[in-house]
Amino acid sequence: MEISVIGTGYVGLVTGVSLAQIGHTVTCVDNNEEKITKLKQFKSPIYEPGIEELIEENVEQNRLTFKLGQEVDYSQFDAIYLAVGTPQSEDGTADLTFINQVVIDIKNKCHQDMVIVTKSTVPVGTNASIEQKLNEDSDYKFTVVSNPEFLREGSAIEDVFHPERIILGSDDEAALDMVEEINEPFHAPVVRSNFESAEIIKYASNAFLATKISYINMIADLCEAVGADVQTVSRGMGLDSRIGNKFLKAGIGYGGSCFPKDTSALTKIAEQHDVDSSIIKSAIKVNQDEQVKLVSYLDDIYPALAGKKISLLGLAFKPETDDIRDAASIRIINELLDRKAKIHVYDPEATNNIRNIFGGKLTYSENISDCLQDSEAALVITEWKEIKGIQLQTFKDKMRRALILDGRGALLNATDDPEIEYQTIGRRGIN
Ligand code: UGA
Repeated sequence: MEISVIGTGYVGLVTGVSLAQIGHTVTCVDNNEEKITKLKQFKSPIYEPGIEELIEENVEQNRLTFKLGQEVDYSQFDAIYLAVGTPQSEDGTADLTFINQVVIDIKNKCHQDMVIVTKSTVPVGTNASIEQKLNEDSDYKFTVVSNPEFLREGSAIEDVFHPERIILGSDDEAALDMVEEINEPFHAPVVRSNFESAEIIKYASNAFLATKISYINMIADLCEAVGADVQTVSRGMGLDSRIGNKFLKAGIGYGGSCFPKDTSALTKIAEQHDVDSSIIKSAIKVNQDEQVKLVSYLDDIYPALAGKKISLLGLAFKPETDDIRDAASIRIINELLDRKAKIHVYDPEATNNIRNIFGGKLTYSENISDCLQDSEAALVITEWKEIKGIQLQTFKDKMRRALILDGRGALLNATDDPEIEYQTIGRRGIN
């Protein structure tokens, strides 16, 4: 089928590329000229393993093109996918400015009946409102299908080709049949629902996973207090298939563009409908505390941090991405700046994004050795493979004091080395 995907962020780009790969003819549309120019040269505006190869392959097979919004005539397509961002506004709700702009654009430039597939995460009621706005005073019939996305940054390509479920929300059976047919090559179970259920499935899934992480992090605090080890506790719990071992990894909390935004939006939706969402509010509170846990360890060890060189290993909100949105690193850096520490940072991909925020306030290291040189504490923020693979000797050789505060349980082998002082989340004390 001929498909247009509007928005070339994570969701839009990965969706467009995957639909092209399964044989559809896809036009990815964005209003950002720089992004479109880059994409035409097979350069991805996001760091996502494997995406540039897929872009090149599909462009060369004539299944994928990139266009600026003003160049597109929407009437040529069988379906239009909406994948623009819905960032968090100041009051915690989802900001629908981009969605609303696209709705106006489609109305102006689509002169036939059309199926609109919503990939963007939108609050309950939004799909109904999009459909209503599109059909208001229109000569054509616009049918909206809510089709929330569940891919993870860093493994988006793997996720998009192996979805565990496809959610399709609409009251229009013909439109549902059509979108199901588009997705048929993915061979995933399809759940059909109305708009509201599809919208809730997306928020409830993300909030559940975020709550699961906060739950194990709360247990981690308890483990530290009573002398248990959260790694063992997590393994012991996760072997129960009703609990499952995924998203049960204790650490300095969740970040990124989804869990923080979606948990907050879900509490707002609940509030608007007078429904108690205290479980999710607690998960958010636990996460805020966990993100700065390493700083509280540091305060106990160095009551005065001013002038001390502290090394941060990893800055991205998780490995395999350069994304730093709501990353623990940002909050930790701010806390350390308040204490006037000398902060040296290293990340394989995310350094430039952090530089854009903190400029000359930090020292940006090209490699791990430089970052650790003469340092008085190393904080592990992101469990990149490269960071997990650091030889313990490097800490001993380079640092003034071989002290590791590990926010991700990435260097557990350091517990056995008597020359290294090591503290991780969910285990008592420094060895
Ligand atoms: C998340 C969901 O996993 C996707 O299903 C969803 O599509 C996406 O949000 C979205 O709404 O777009 P993502 O934010 O890319 O994906 O990343 P995750 O892999 O879920 O990790 C989120 C955060 O949780 C990271 O900071 C990670 O370090 C943390 N985490 C994850 C833990 O602290 N412990 C765990 O056990 C798992």
